[in-house]
Amino acid sequence: NKGVAPVTYGTGDRPPRGDYGRARSDYTCAQDFAQYTEADHVTYRRLYQRQLQQLPGLACDEFINAVQQLGAPERIPRFDDISERLMKATGWQIVGVPGLIPEEAFFALLAERRFPVTDWIRKPEEFDYVVEPDIFHDLFGHVPLLFNPVFADYMQAYGAGGMKASRLDACELLARLYWYTVEFGLIQTPQGLRAYGAGILSSAGELRYSVTSPEPQRVGFDLQRLMRSRYRIDTFQASYFVIDSFQQLFDATAPDFTPVYAQVRERIAHEGEIEAGQVLAGERLYLALGA
Ligand code: PHE
Ligand code: FE
Repeated sequence: NKGVAPVTYGTGDRPPRGDYGRARSDYTCAQDFAQYTEADHVTYRRLYQRQLQQLPGLACDEFINAVQQLGAPERIPRFDDISERLMKATGWQIVGVPGLIPEEAFFALLAERRFPVTDWIRKPEEFDYVVEPDIFHDLFGHVPLLFNPVFADYMQAYGAGGMKASRLDACELLARLYWYTVEFGLIQTPQGLRAYGAGILSSAGELRYSVTSPEPQRVGFDLQRLMRSRYRIDTFQASYFVIDSFQQLFDATAPDFTPVYAQVRERIAHEGEIEAGQVLAGERLYLALGA
């Protein structure tokens, strides 16, 4: 096993940080548990506790109710232990990866109900912000909702849809769906607005900002509107998309996207893309929680 080529996208000019020499051809690798120092476990515990404390009233109930499935917050958990519980709940597993992996490999794993989790953790000086996703983002942000049956099915459908989008050269449009739902999605509940996106839930500052700040725009979920919308990767989001339920998200994305991509491309060609933070005429916005 000679390992695989490291990924360079998403890391700017820097080489990616993980060791891709230990990855299998599908980019997965065994969780290198021996690499973790006591300081790494402390980093995990501090990150976990800081986020856990903020969840009530900001994270959706599905997330809050499942977060303890990650195991004791004191130490970095073993992927196999989580997979055992996850497999029973929704038939998903988590698998180790050295870091960011190529799109096609990522889609293929999701389509097999295997969620890739980076096995290294950020350094103490990166406590508030890490450029590449690390184990804390991947585990704490993404894994709890994989315990929800509807969201779990959505993630698998996304993987299969990604393989199709690769053939249709539509990955850029599909990536916007991932960004605005899986990473930065908000959900309207009877108790008010809540977060379900992993990028929000694993962020110290953006969790409260996304739900309560009057600054960003919050638009109702609309597939084509979303696919026309650019996003920012270097600051808090200027726009969020709000779903009413995971079932709504699943149903709205179930149809074949082949004609959808064509329509969105047509629309972009005539009217352009929508900027982050832009509001369209007549568009109804959701108010911040507490506004
Ligand atoms: N329905 C989409 C297609 O045919 C697949 C998909 C489902 C994509 C769910 C994203 C999320 O391409
Ligand atoms: Fe993520």
